[in-house]
Amino acid sequence: MSRSATTSPAPYSTADPSSFGYETARKRWPTIVTGVVDDLTKAVFQHVHVKSKVDEGCAIIASIQDLKNEILAGAELCPLKDDGSAEIAAYNEELVASGTQTWHDSPWLFCECYLFKRISTYFSLSDHWKDYDAFMNQKMDTFRSSLPAVAELAAQYRGLATQQKDAAAAAPGSEEVLFREIFEVCLWGNATDLSLLTNLSYEDIQKLQGSEARKAAESNILVNDLPRVYDQLRRAQDAGKPSRVDIVLDNSGFELYVDLLLAGYLLSSGLAQEVVFHPKNIPWFVSDVTPADFEAVMGILADPARFFGDSSNFVGDLTFLSSQLEGFRKQGRLSLRTSSFWTLPCGFAALPRADPALFAELRASNLVVFKGDLNYRKLTGDRAWSPTTPFVEAITAPAPSGKSCEQSDAKAEDSSASSMADLNVLALRTCKADVVVGLAPGKDEELRSATDPEYAAAAAGSSLSGPRRWAWSGKWAVIQFSQAR
Ligand code: F6P
Ligand code: MG
Repeated sequence: MSRSATTSPAPYSTADPSSFGYETARKRWPTIVTGVVDDLTKAVFQHVHVKSKVDEGCAIIASIQDLKNEILAGAELCPLKDDGSAEIAAYNEELVASGTQTWHDSPWLFCECYLFKRISTYFSLSDHWKDYDAFMNQKMDTFRSSLPAVAELAAQYRGLATQQKDAAAAAPGSEEVLFREIFEVCLWGNATDLSLLTNLSYEDIQKLQGSEARKAAESNILVNDLPRVYDQLRRAQDAGKPSRVDIVLDNSGFELYVDLLLAGYLLSSGLAQEVVFHPKNIPWFVSDVTPADFEAVMGILADPARFFGDSSNFVGDLTFLSSQLEGFRKQGRLSLRTSSFWTLPCGFAALPRADPALFAELRASNLVVFKGDLNYRKLTGDRAWSPTTPFVEAITAPAPSGKSCEQSDAKAEDSSASSMADLNVLALRTCKADVVVGLAPGKDEELRSATDPEYAAAAAGSSLSGPRRWAWSGKWAVIQFSQAR
């Protein structure tokens, strides 16, 4: 089922005081941009011997400080400078098509993508800083501080991998329990992204990542479609059909690590013959995985003592995982697939027409896993849906900003009848933004009442307006599946 643009609700706006986008635009983005300035300032002073590099670094710092002032002032969004990348036209066409947009009054999803694409142009247009990732140090530091959970999971994984051969003899149903556990580990790996780090300490993060925390959080999964997903993969396996799983990545560090555990599990259990990862081409939403991050994390797994410090406890467990994953890579069963589609400003409903080749590949996949909050916002168009809207309805509605993302060639026309309903879509998302769909009737009201005294007191559940605060912290999650039609 799909809706026409006229009946779909509007996307969340940075002008709406009840949206998390309002606070994000006014407080969180300036903090993120300050982080870029701080990182770059340190990096520039490491290059004091190369004058042209220092001068150019200082000029970038000045431009990024101006950007911060623009955001604080709620200034108009200006066209992006053309750095030759594929996405620029889509951003600038959208700015023209939608009239004046300001930092404080524009669709939240568009504006946030614009912010990260704009930051990337300062570097891509430079001579000395083209490949510099101002978020890399943060990504690495957080991964280092995740060691307790990394070590715990590596030991469990190795234990499981050596027992897997005896799984057939294990208690009936145990395979599905294991499947569920691994997917839930993968889900909660998304609970801590660096764009929220402004509110969390490293200790808070460690607590969120441990197995105790995961057990306690089971009841916070508001929709859990994993039994249907297990069925989907099991059916292909039982029929002897080769099965490909795609993972549209979110954050680097700990989250990427659990995604790699998932890939290792799927490939070694025979539930998939091939796993394809989809990273971002540029530094994105602070902590998202780039191809360079992927290689860095793979390198850390191969030589963990160098990164985490020497300890005989975890080194063997991590190198076990590393050699298994590297083996799959050599066989071509584990790979990376890049596309500029993931850093366009549009919702994923635009995919069939924006990148027909990528869409065709994903259509052939037995499961396409979308990790994290931003991917969920893009799947649902970041619109103010009623929370009981069926998941499939939200992911097939025309994408906001979709038109400017579309290709106009003949191949793209072929796919005009296609939609996200043609893919096997699985969203693994901890909620860090307003949009949510597919909830049972009454659940949103219950959560609002329980977590928001103002809502409980003022409306006693009679009104759905006002902020959906429960959905902003990453404490609640959804696992939603839409099988290809
Ligand atoms: O907290 C909100 C936010 O920063 C959004 O801007 C974005 O959707 C999300 O978090 C990033 O989270 P994730 O890494 O899970 O996509
Ligand atoms: Mg992210």
